[in-house]
Amino acid sequence: MQSTFSPLRVTSSSSTRAIKSLLHQSTSSFSTATLARPVAILPPVATSIAYRHHQQQQHPTSSSSSSSSRHKRPQHRSFSLFGSFKAEGASGADTKRIPKAVQNEIPEVLLHDIHPQPMLDEFKGKRLSTADLEAIPIDLGFHREPAGVSDWVAYHVVKSMRIPVDLFFRTKYIHRVVALETVAAVPGMVAGMLRHLRSLRRCSHDGGWISHLLHEAENERMHLLTWMKVAQPTLFERALVTAVQGVFFNVFFALYMVSDKTAHRVVGYLEEQAVISYTHMLDEIAAGVLENGPAPKIAIDYWNLEETATIRDVCLAIRLDESVHMHTNHHLSDRIALKQEDLRVDIQKMQEERGMIPTQNAEKVWTKGNKY
Ligand SMILES: [Fe+2]
Ligand SMILES: [Fe+2]
Repeated sequence: MQSTFSPLRVTSSSSTRAIKSLLHQSTSSFSTATLARPVAILPPVATSIAYRHHQQQQHPTSSSSSSSSRHKRPQHRSFSLFGSFKAEGASGADTKRIPKAVQNEIPEVLLHDIHPQPMLDEFKGKRLSTADLEAIPIDLGFHREPAGVSDWVAYHVVKSMRIPVDLFFRTKYIHRVVALETVAAVPGMVAGMLRHLRSLRRCSHDGGWISHLLHEAENERMHLLTWMKVAQPTLFERALVTAVQGVFFNVFFALYMVSDKTAHRVVGYLEEQAVISYTHMLDEIAAGVLENGPAPKIAIDYWNLEETATIRDVCLAIRLDESVHMHTNHHLSDRIALKQEDLRVDIQKMQEERGMIPTQNAEKVWTKGNKY
């Protein structure tokens, strides 16, 4: 049977032209001078980054002075988060090409502490020893029984997702958690973004969700950055992570639009699996299968651990975070089901019951009908 598809035809001459054009751009249009041209008018947050400059060997027959000067660019450059960069000690000609707006200093308002905050208050006091971490309560056997069809689907989708992950990574535990944390950091950001947009559309308060969801995403990213200090993913794993992120972001986005209740339930079950995975990692450390080396500095700073902390301590701390996400996402899903999404008044009641001093009277400050 003849195919009904009519494939996009790319003639060899047109494809060759396109490739030649790209190659031409890479050697001529993308010169340092062009890249130094600013693409943003905002003052850059410039951070000096040393990077390997793949200096092209100048051909002995080449006598072009412009080519020679291009190949002798300094190796340290100031990168701008907004896309432009200039060479340190760049020539006068280069500097002239950069508008004054881009050369401004960092605005004062950006000079505040941007150190990410941990999820649990226990990590914000004194430095924690292994015994302190073990003493923090955690509900290891927790499992939320599916209630209804959507819960059942969420649970079995998550359970089935574990199979290919187990088959692919096998005993490469650190590589496995690096890959998983790249996925785990997506739902909080997507949910936070969608709740933010909903709040704008409805001109009403978010009920106290957004800041928590964004905090969760940041916390998961800190898990990733921690494990990146322990093991670097291979090129293939990086490519896989990119592909999975592209798919997962869109699937979760669509799911949240259709049923935010199911989306939070999916995250709840994912976090149940995360707790199980970190428990398994702790078992492997105890059995001597996984080396219990020193904790990376980023983990010591973030979770306020002792300087002698180990990978086991990091696993204990991250498992506590995963447990927090597990309970929170199941709770958020339940609240959607019960149509009690506003967290503010309940949080204040709990604060009063526990003798905590509420910073503000939530009911009076936030509730004017259901609007600001
Ligand atoms: Fe995580
Ligand atoms: Fe998590």
